[in-house]
Amino acid sequence: MTAGSSGGDSSQPWTDLASDYEQARAREDSLDRLVEWPAQRDLLGDVAGLSVLDAGCGNGGKAAELVVEGGAVASVGVDISGNFITAPPTGLDLIQGDLSDLASVPGLADRRFDRILFLQSFGYAKDSVGALRTARSMLADDGFILLTRTQPIRYAIERAEKNGSSLGEEYFSTGSFSYQHKGWNEEAKLTKRPYTMSDLINIFSAAGLWIETAVEPQMADELRQQYPHKQAVLNKYLGILMFKLRPLPD
Ligand SMILES: C[S@@+](CC[C@H](N)C(=O)[O-])C[C@H]1O[C@@H](n2cnc3c(N)ncnc32)[C@H](O)[C@@H]1O
Repeated sequence: MTAGSSGGDSSQPWTDLASDYEQARAREDSLDRLVEWPAQRDLLGDVAGLSVLDAGCGNGGKAAELVVEGGAVASVGVDISGNFITAPPTGLDLIQGDLSDLASVPGLADRRFDRILFLQSFGYAKDSVGALRTARSMLADDGFILLTRTQPIRYAIERAEKNGSSLGEEYFSTGSFSYQHKGWNEEAKLTKRPYTMSDLINIFSAAGLWIETAVEPQMADELRQQYPHKQAVLNKYLGILMFKLRPLPD
C-alpha cells in the first residue's frame, strides 16, 4: 500500500463482530484494559471542557468514560455497527456512520472537535489519507488526533507462521489477507490489507499531519507478574502503536 491509495480493511463483518469484540474487551485480562486504554488515556491528557470525536467508537463506552470521568463536553462517537451502550451520558451523542468521511456523518458537517480519536479503527477507512484529511479539517484550534493501530509486525508474524514463510516476505507483501481474531469470534473473518511502518508515516504526511508523539505501550511491572499470559502475547506480537498527530501549517 502506498500513501494515498484507497480501500481499507473491510468493515462489513463488524455487524457480526461488534458484541463479541466488546465482550472480549470487557474481560479483566484484555490487553485493552491492561495496556491500551490506560495508555490512550495518558496520551489524551486532560479532556475537561474539551469536545471529543471518537471515530469507530465501538459501543461508545470509552467516549462515555471521557465525558463522565474526564469532563469532556459536546462529544460524539461514530461507529458503523450501531451497537451502542443504551444510556449515553448527557454530552455524548452516539451516531451510526462511516468513519471514512466523518464530515458526511449526519450532524457532523460543520462541527469542530478538540480531540479526534481513531482507536484501532483507522484501518477500516476506505481511503486512509482522505479520512485523515477530513478529520484534520474538523480539528478545533490546538486540537490533535489520537490514532492507534496494531503493530504491522503482528500480522506478518501470524501469516509467516501460517504460510511457512518469513517475516520479511509477509511484512512486505501487498495482497489482502483474511484474519480471524482469536478470542473474539472464531467464525467472523476480517479482510485486512497489509501495511508497513513507512506506509503509516507516509499516510500521516500526505494528510497534512505531523507526529508529535509516538508510543508503543507495554504492561506495567506489577501487571506483568499478575498476567504472564498477556505478557507472553506482547513478547511475541509487540502490541499496538499510538500516535498523537497535529496539523501541519497550511
Ligand atoms: C477493534 S474495534 C475498536 C473499537 C474502539 N475504538 C476501541 O478502542 O475499543 C473497531 C471498531 O471499528 C468499527 N468500524 C469498522 N469499520 C468502520 C467504519 N467504516 N466506520 C465506522 N466504524 C467502523 C467497528 O464496528 C468496531 O467497533
